[in-house]
Amino acid sequence: MKIEMQVNGEPRTVEASPWKRLLDVLREDLRLTGTKEGCGEGECGACSVILDGEVVNSCLVAAGQCVGRAVTTVEGLAARGDVLHPVQRELVACGGAQCGICTPGIAICAAHVVDRGLVAAALAAGDEAAARAKVRELLAGNICRCTGYQLIVDAVLAAAREAVPGASAAAPAPGGAP
Ligand code: FES
Ligand code: FES
Repeated sequence: MKIEMQVNGEPRTVEASPWKRLLDVLREDLRLTGTKEGCGEGECGACSVILDGEVVNSCLVAAGQCVGRAVTTVEGLAARGDVLHPVQRELVACGGAQCGICTPGIAICAAHVVDRGLVAAALAAGDEAAARAKVRELLAGNICRCTGYQLIVDAVLAAAREAVPGASAAAPAPGGAP
């Protein structure tokens, strides 16, 4: 079956079974290997991509479901020239990546959180604890075996603050619990 979709803003066509996983279409047919496979069962978030504005696990999406739809992968986050998305920049700056297997999925979900302003209200109100709790909730589907999550959450909050005029500088993280 001919599968036509927008990938990172460009029209792409592949010849594939409609049952082929979107994850495999991206990695094998389109050579976009930034998207990773962890569990293959919708549990870890490593394969996260944005499909028509919503984060999905690409291991659970069939290619046939993507016809005519828009997919953004981690490669698309940095597609504005060579300028990284703020969450990518802050993941580097804050040390929020170690082995890196979870990082593309984290970056996709975090970009969704920041670009949709999902913690903007808490940051604008100066409620750092609420913003931190919300980030943890929104990224709960992304498993990281390495970092303990603290530095990932720091990075997401730092990126989110950039989009909120007057948001306070980074506040000390409470406790360190994941
Ligand atoms: Fe898709 Fe783990 S590989 S959720
Ligand atoms: Fe290794 Fe997250 S950095 S799994």
